[in-house]
Amino acid sequence: PLPRRYAAQLPIPSVLQPVRTDGTTDYYEITARPGLARIVPGHDTEVWGYQALFPGPTIESRSGRRTVVTHRNELPHPTVVHLHGGHTPHDSDGYPMDLIAPLGGGSGGPGGSGMAGMAGMGSAANVKPERVYDYPMNQRAATLWYHDHTMGFTGPQVYRGLAGFHLVRDDEEASLGLPQGARELPLMLADRAFAADGSFAYPALDPSEMKPGVTTPYMNGVLGDVILVNGAPWPFAPVDRARYRLRILNASNARRYRLELDPQPPGGGGLLQIGSDGGLLARPVAHDGIELAPAERFDVVVDFSRYPAGSSVRLVNRLGSGSTAEVMRFDIGSAQVSDDSRVPGGTLAEVEKLDPAKAVATRTFVFNKSKENWTINGEEYRPGHSLASPKLGQIEVWRFVTDFHHPVHLHLDPFQVISRNAADPGEYDAGWKDTVDVLPAQGVEVAVRFSDYAGRFLLHCHNLEHEDMAMMAEFTTQ
Ligand code: C2O
Ligand code: CU
Repeated sequence: PLPRRYAAQLPIPSVLQPVRTDGTTDYYEITARPGLARIVPGHDTEVWGYQALFPGPTIESRSGRRTVVTHRNELPHPTVVHLHGGHTPHDSDGYPMDLIAPLGGGSGGPGGSGMAGMAGMGSAANVKPERVYDYPMNQRAATLWYHDHTMGFTGPQVYRGLAGFHLVRDDEEASLGLPQGARELPLMLADRAFAADGSFAYPALDPSEMKPGVTTPYMNGVLGDVILVNGAPWPFAPVDRARYRLRILNASNARRYRLELDPQPPGGGGLLQIGSDGGLLARPVAHDGIELAPAERFDVVVDFSRYPAGSSVRLVNRLGSGSTAEVMRFDIGSAQVSDDSRVPGGTLAEVEKLDPAKAVATRTFVFNKSKENWTINGEEYRPGHSLASPKLGQIEVWRFVTDFHHPVHLHLDPFQVISRNAADPGEYDAGWKDTVDVLPAQGVEVAVRFSDYAGRFLLHCHNLEHEDMAMMAEFTTQ
C-alpha cells in the first residue's frame, strides 16, 4: 500500500559537524552504510545512506575555506563520491573509476560479488576502503549536493539513498538578509517505487549487481509512484506566515517536475527565484511554476504571509498524474510573527556574463540512443577516452543536441545558457547552471569557461539510467 499523503512531517537533514578544524580547513568523516527508514506503513525500508541516512547529513562550507571529507564505505558494493556543483580538482571529483572498496574488500566477504562485477573496470591500485576528498571551495555560495558516481551503478546506488546536501555560504549572500535559520528549508525531491515488502524496487537488469543497466521497459529512466521530500513521502511542513527560502533539488533518477503552489497566492508569482545551480541570480525572477530536470536546483523564496492565517498550500507537480501530481504541503500558522527577512528587488549579486563572442571554440555534443545504449556523439562512455580538450581560462560555446529529454551536466565549472533552438534561453535557464534541461529534439547552446584545474572531467546526462547506460563522456582541461 502507498504511504498516506501529508501524514509525515518534513524532516530536515542534520548539519554534519567537522571532526576537526584548523586555520584554513574543516575536516569531516562520512561512512556509507545500510540503515533503516520508515517510509511505507508497516515496513522498514533498507537504505544505503551516508551515515546510514537518506538524505545524508548536510555539509556547510564557507566559500574559500577548504573542506576535506574522508568517505568510508561499509556497503557491500564499491562507491564513488561526487560533489555536484563543486569546483574540484580531478583527484577529488569522484571520477567513476576511483572506487572506494566495499566492506570485506575485493575478494570474499559481502563485497565479493560486487567487486567481481567491477573486475576489469579498474586496477586494484585505485580501489581503497576509504578516500579523502579535498575540496578547495573556491566558489560562490550555492546549493551543491553530493551523491554516488560509481561506474555503471550510480542509478541504483542513488536510488537506495546515497545523496545529501552540501551548502556553500559566502559574505555577499549573507549580507542580503534572506530568510535563514528555521526559515531556510532544503528540499530534496526524489520519486521511488516500493516492493510489497517495503524495499526499494529498482528494476536492475542483473539483481546481483555484477552488470549495470536496467530492464528494457526502464531504459528511458526509472520512475516511482511515491514522491519523497527529504526522504519522507508527501510530507507536511508547519510554517509561519513569513518568508521562507526553499532550496529545491531534484534528486530523482529520471523524473522531471513542474512545481506550482496550489492555490497560487493572490496576484501569482508565488515562487520568487533567487538562485539556480550555481548560486544567486543577478536579480530575482517571479514564477508561477518552475520546471526541474534531475540534478537541477532552484532557490526560491515563498512569502506565506500572502496566504490566510491557518490555511494550507500544497506544492504540486503539474507534470505528474495521480500520486505523482502531489509533492508536499505547507501548513501556515495563525500566529502573528515577525519577519525581518528581505529579498532585494533590484540586484541580488554581481553575476559576470560570459560573452559568447569571445569564444575560442564551438563544440557539438549529440545525445541520442543507439541500439541497446545511450550515447554522446555516437560513442558509449569509455574511461580514459576524451572527447574534447578545452583550455583553462578560455570561453567556449558547447552545443547539446538531443533526441529525448536529457538533463546535461558538466563537471568542474558552471555555464550560462545562451540559446535554445537558436532562440532566447528558456524561462528556467537564468544564472550559472551546471545542469541544463535539454528537451527532446532541441539544440541548447551554453557558454562555459573551465578554470584552475587541469585533468579529466565528465560531461554526462543526469538521467541516471542514461548515465549508467553509457551516456557519459570525458573532456580533458589543459
Ligand atoms: Cu550529479 Cu556527474 O553528477
Ligand atoms: Cu539522458
